[in-house]
Amino acid sequence: QRPIVRLLSCPGTVAKDLRRDEQPSGSVETGFEDKIPKRRFSEMQNERREQAQRTVLIHCPEKISENKFLKYLSQFGPINNHFFYESFGLYAVVEFCQKESIGSLQNGTHTPSTAMETAIPFRSRFFNLKLKNQTSERSRVRSSNQLPRSNKQLFELLCYAESLNTLLKEFQLTEENTKLRYLTCSLIEDMAAAYFPDCIVRPFGSSVNTFGKLGCDLDMFLDLDETRNLSAHKISGNFLMEFQVKNVPSERIATQKILSVLGECLDHFGPGCVGVQKILNARCPLVRFSHQASGFQCDLTTNNRIALTSSELLYIYGALDSRVRALVFSVRCWARAHSLTSSIPGAWITNFSLTMMVIFFLQRRSPPILPTLDSLKTLADAEDKCVIEGNNCTFVRDLSRIKPSQNTETLELLLKEFFEYFGNFAFDKNSINIRQGREQNKPDSSPLYIQNPFETSLNISKNVSQSQLQKFVDLARESAWILQQEDTDRPSISSNRPWGLVSLLLPSAPNRKSFTKKKSNKFAIETVKNLLESLKGNRTENFTKTSGK
Ligand code: CTP
Ligand code: MG
Repeated sequence: QRPIVRLLSCPGTVAKDLRRDEQPSGSVETGFEDKIPKRRFSEMQNERREQAQRTVLIHCPEKISENKFLKYLSQFGPINNHFFYESFGLYAVVEFCQKESIGSLQNGTHTPSTAMETAIPFRSRFFNLKLKNQTSERSRVRSSNQLPRSNKQLFELLCYAESLNTLLKEFQLTEENTKLRYLTCSLIEDMAAAYFPDCIVRPFGSSVNTFGKLGCDLDMFLDLDETRNLSAHKISGNFLMEFQVKNVPSERIATQKILSVLGECLDHFGPGCVGVQKILNARCPLVRFSHQASGFQCDLTTNNRIALTSSELLYIYGALDSRVRALVFSVRCWARAHSLTSSIPGAWITNFSLTMMVIFFLQRRSPPILPTLDSLKTLADAEDKCVIEGNNCTFVRDLSRIKPSQNTETLELLLKEFFEYFGNFAFDKNSINIRQGREQNKPDSSPLYIQNPFETSLNISKNVSQSQLQKFVDLARESAWILQQEDTDRPSISSNRPWGLVSLLLPSAPNRKSFTKKKSNKFAIETVKNLLESLKGNRTENFTKTSGK
C-alpha cells in the first residue's frame, strides 16, 4: 500500500493524488532512488496543461504593489498561485482557480489604440497592465530567475560544490520555468485553435523529459489527433457521415501546409511572437520563432508523435534512478563548456545524442543501472501497447513495475568511467543501441551511429562529422585522465583542493593531443588551481563588500 499525499487545491479544481514511492520491501536501499513522486508522463502532461489553461501572462509596470495587483485580479476570480519574473521588463504569471475567470478578465480588458499605429485586434491570454497613477506604486516585487548562470558563476559555484548533484540543482528547470513553458504552449494552442478547435499543443524534448537545462529551447508538437478522430464513434445505422476536406498527395505535404498557415498566423497576429521562420523542407518540417515575453526559442512541429514518445521514454529513465539526471547534466555541461555542443545546428553532437550515450553507458554497468528498452517492453501491459506509423513504441509506463538497480557506484566514479568508456569506444565499427543495451555493427559509415530507439532505421547522430567525433573522444580521454589524477593526488574528499569537475569544465590545455604527457596536464591543473584561487579571492572580496555596507 503506497501512502497518498493529497494536495489541497482551490474549490472548483480537482484535488490531485501524488504518490510518494516507497522502497519496495526486501530491496537494498542504495541511497540513489529518487524520492520525487513518480507520476505517469501522461498524467503529468495533462495536469500541467489543465493548469496552463487557467493561467494568464501579464506584462507589468516595473514597480508594482504585489498586494494591490492580486487584489485587482481577484475581482475576476480566486487565484491559485502566481509568480513574477524579469525578461525585458517585469512579467507576472497568474494561475486562476477556474478557467471562467479568464473570460471575465478578457471582458474587462480593452484593445489599445495609438495615434501612430493600428492594433490588430486579438483577444489572447497575454495582457499589458498599465498604471493610471504612476507615482502611487513604489515597491519592487521579488521575481524568479529564468536565466541560466554565467560561466563565471558556474565555476565559482563548482568550486564550493560538494557533489555532482550541485550541477543538477543549479541547472535543472525550475517549477516556475516549467509552468512558463506549459503556458507558452497553451498560448500558441489558442492561436492554432482558431483553425483547429480541438488541437493540443504539447511540449516535448528537454522541456518535459527532465533533462532540460534553464535556457533550453521549447519544442512543441501540434497534435491534431482529436480533430482527426472526433467523429469516429458517431456512426449509427446505415449512414456514414464524412467531412468534406481537401486532399494532398502525402502526409508531409499536409504537415507543410498546416505549419505554413500557422507560421503566418503567429507572425501576423501572435502577441510576442517574433522572428518567425518557416523551415518546411527539413526532414521534420517546423516553424521556429522567439516568444519574446518568456524568452523561449520555440520549435513548432506537427505529426511528430514519435518524438513525444521518446520524451516519455527519457522521462522514465530519468525517474528510475537519481544518478541518471545528475550524470546527464554533468556530461551536458562538460560538452557545452568545451563547445562540443552548440545552439546552432551543425556537425556537432546534440544534447539528445549525449543523453542516449549516458543511458547506454548506464545499461552497460555491472550490475546495470538502467534497463534496456527491450526489457521495458517486456514489462508492458495491454494499456501500454503503442504502434506509431508502423513503429512499435510499446514500453511500460507504470514506474512502480520497474525494479530499482542494485548498483551502488558513486556519481563521481560513473563520470570518470563514462569518459573512459567513450574515450575507448570502437566508434569505427560499432553503433549505440539503447533498445538492446549492447553495441552492434554499424549499418553505415556515419562516424557516430546512435540508433533511434523507435524508428530503428534512423541514426539520431547522422549529422556528426568525423572531426567532431574525434574532438569528443580526445576530450573524453583527457577528462578521464584528469579525474584519474584527482583520485591519486587527492588525499581525502574534505581536503581544500579544487575539485575535479571544475577542471573538466575549463578549456583544455593548449596542446590537447599531449594529454598523455603528465607535464602538460600538471600545467592544466595548475592553471585551474590559479583560476579557482582567484575566484575564491573575488568571492571573499564580494562578501566583505556586502557585509561592510
Ligand atoms: N529528436 C529525435 N531525433 C533527432 C533529434 C531530435 O527524435 N535526431 C527528438 C527527441 O525526442 C528530442 C526532441 O526531438 O528530445 C527535441 O530535439 P532537440 O531540441 O534537438 O533536443 P532536446 O532533447 O530537446 O535537447 P535540447 O535541450 O538541446 O533542446
Ligand atoms: Mg529541445
